[in-house]
Amino acid sequence: MKKDLVILGAQWGDEGKGKVVDLLSADFDMVVRYQGGSNAGHTVMVGGEKFVLHLLPTGILHEQAIGVVAQGMVVDLELLVKEIEELEKKGLKVWDRIYISDRAHIVLPYHKVLDSLFEKKGKIGTTLRGIGPSYMFKYGRKGIRVCDLEDPDRTYQLIKENIEFVSDLCEKVYCENHRLDAQEVFEKTMEHYKRVKERVIDTTRLILDFRGRVLFEGAQGTMLDIDMGTYPYVTSSNASALGLSNGTGLPPKYFSEANFWAVSKAYTTRVGEGPFPTELKDATGELLRERGGEYGATTGRPRRCGWLDLVALKHAVEVNGLDGIIITKLDVLDAFEEIKVCVAYEVNGKRIDHFPASLSLLQRVKPVYKTFKGWLKDTRGARSLSTMPSEALEYIDFIQEYLKVPVVMLSTGPEREEYFWLYEPAWK
Ligand code: IMP
Repeated sequence: MKKDLVILGAQWGDEGKGKVVDLLSADFDMVVRYQGGSNAGHTVMVGGEKFVLHLLPTGILHEQAIGVVAQGMVVDLELLVKEIEELEKKGLKVWDRIYISDRAHIVLPYHKVLDSLFEKKGKIGTTLRGIGPSYMFKYGRKGIRVCDLEDPDRTYQLIKENIEFVSDLCEKVYCENHRLDAQEVFEKTMEHYKRVKERVIDTTRLILDFRGRVLFEGAQGTMLDIDMGTYPYVTSSNASALGLSNGTGLPPKYFSEANFWAVSKAYTTRVGEGPFPTELKDATGELLRERGGEYGATTGRPRRCGWLDLVALKHAVEVNGLDGIIITKLDVLDAFEEIKVCVAYEVNGKRIDHFPASLSLLQRVKPVYKTFKGWLKDTRGARSLSTMPSEALEYIDFIQEYLKVPVVMLSTGPEREEYFWLYEPAWK
């Protein structure tokens, strides 16, 4: 049976999806990115060499896989060309394996101008890659799709109108001058388009007609989902499973047989602003950051760190209909005498077991913790269950019992081979 796989982020992004997708995609014939854009930063270590992918599906590092940049993405063509070229320089053939959706929207310099401007009032802590404004233009029906670039006159007209609109907004509302040159933006856009043009197709049809196994790679994480995350401190796409259908153009039924897995760290991190109930602003949080190397792959910003939040993780299990969880970076906890896990929230003495929608409520919740004894043993690079300390297994058992979903795999280091299965899937 053709069993497709969906890999999602269960937290606020940066869960280690890059590494997990990289090692799993060895078994897949097609790898698909379908939401977000260059805000993502998927880091993979192969043989000591570091690869950071922003727009391409991570699975493209496996040469048997066809890569798809699907319609739900907002694509910065300049960065896409650069990313492909960099991989080609490292000896990977990408141009003849990558397909770009004709329906994907493109990110243009005026989106980035707006991203910076919006950040000055009501900071979200975005990656400044123009993601939110690109989706604003898409849903405001002022966006430019890849297929539109086939009509240069129309493209020029749209760019000109959009630049006029953005410039007026900058001047009249923000009292700033950011008048971009429409002709220059147009020419550069067409230059980048020429580079990718041969690879542009209807990717929905491509996937529908494909007979091999497909891996769908979510970017960011469920808690950053525009509808199900900590709105407004979220990204501007459906980073949960909700984004699969609109992001690919495939009917929801297409995914009925797929496996849905999500990746979670053994603790929690987030970058940017917004609620984070288990955040630790003390030496323990600092130790997590240092041991985990918690600095953004796209922006280099230090990540906020805290204990594992099972209320949020349960939300991810429910929203995504998860079949399994993959836990990464358990070894970061090796140095802690005590490890805490949030099992509920409390507000004014009232216990809350479900992740609330309300921002003001989320800002007031206090985590209720269960405390575990740390294992104080080195688990980095562990390759089997039998070598794991019993305290670490107790921690993992508790997570799966709470979530009622199996932990299928443990990732124990950044290199491809540093992992082991707890429940090996049937296809292995
Ligand atoms: P944007 O996606 O650049 O608009 O940023 C919105 C929020 O999502 C900010 O808090 C970002 O830090 C966060 N974010 C966006 N992409 C990622 C990611 O790949 N990993 C983690 N956080 C992200």
